[in-house]
Amino acid sequence: MTQKPRTATTFAPPVMEARRWLEGVIFTKDRPLINVSQAAPVDPPPEPLRRAIAEVALNEPEAHLYGPVLGLPELRAEIAGQWTAAYGGAVRAEQVCITSGCNQAFTAAIDTLCTDGDEVILPIPYYFNHRMWLDMSGVTTVCLPTRAGLIPDAEDAAALITARTKAIVLVSPNNPAGVEYPTETLRAFYDLCKARGIALIVDETYRDFDARSGAPHDLFTEADWDQTLIQLYSFSKAYRLTGHRVGAMVASPARLALPSAS
Ligand SMILES: Cc1ncc(COP(=O)(O)O)c(C=O)c1O
Repeated sequence: MTQKPRTATTFAPPVMEARRWLEGVIFTKDRPLINVSQAAPVDPPPEPLRRAIAEVALNEPEAHLYGPVLGLPELRAEIAGQWTAAYGGAVRAEQVCITSGCNQAFTAAIDTLCTDGDEVILPIPYYFNHRMWLDMSGVTTVCLPTRAGLIPDAEDAAALITARTKAIVLVSPNNPAGVEYPTETLRAFYDLCKARGIALIVDETYRDFDARSGAPHDLFTEADWDQTLIQLYSFSKAYRLTGHRVGAMVASPARLALPSAS
């Protein structure tokens, strides 16, 4: 039997598809195309940041070479410090790794959790890249319908957990729904995942855009949070650095390291 290549197990990214709709279309002054997308910054980073990048590119030769596998120690420590201040609890530098964008952080997280035939629960509507990676990894996406206001409910998720479930993925603030998940929602999902021995992946790419004040959740205050929680972050949006591909995974040190070959 011929096996399908991995890319044939999923769908075309909708962003490219939407771009194709525009090919050859002429927009007149009285009917202009209005771009209301939020997640793809159209302006470059502010000048001081561009200058800092230029300085490093010009004056630090090692910036162009392979660096430490889990990212620059200063950046890992900075994230750990900022997260500890913002969320309460404790995040240590050794629990942070820098990735080539948040999408890579997601793929890496899934690769540490799943094998072919495993299941991951995604509330719908989901972020398309999450579904695509699961498809291409041979992992079954189990869709969790959301309730009022497009908020998922942990009790609904509990009914979907099977012996093959490895993780539940939440995105908050959410893409594409735009909603901010209440603290209690994140807490209920954390408690569920911990009780059932599965991972809770929280993609907080849009954490800097959360309209609420204070911490969006208190999960890092749990002494053993890293046994359940995997948090993902992106520098693409807040810092307008989409082209530089910088993201982060915050998780247990054991998850961030490849197991030794012995
Ligand atoms: C929820 C979510 N996660 C991850 C990403 C990708 O982030 P990055 O550019 O860091 O790979 C996006 C970008 O649209 C996103 O919306």
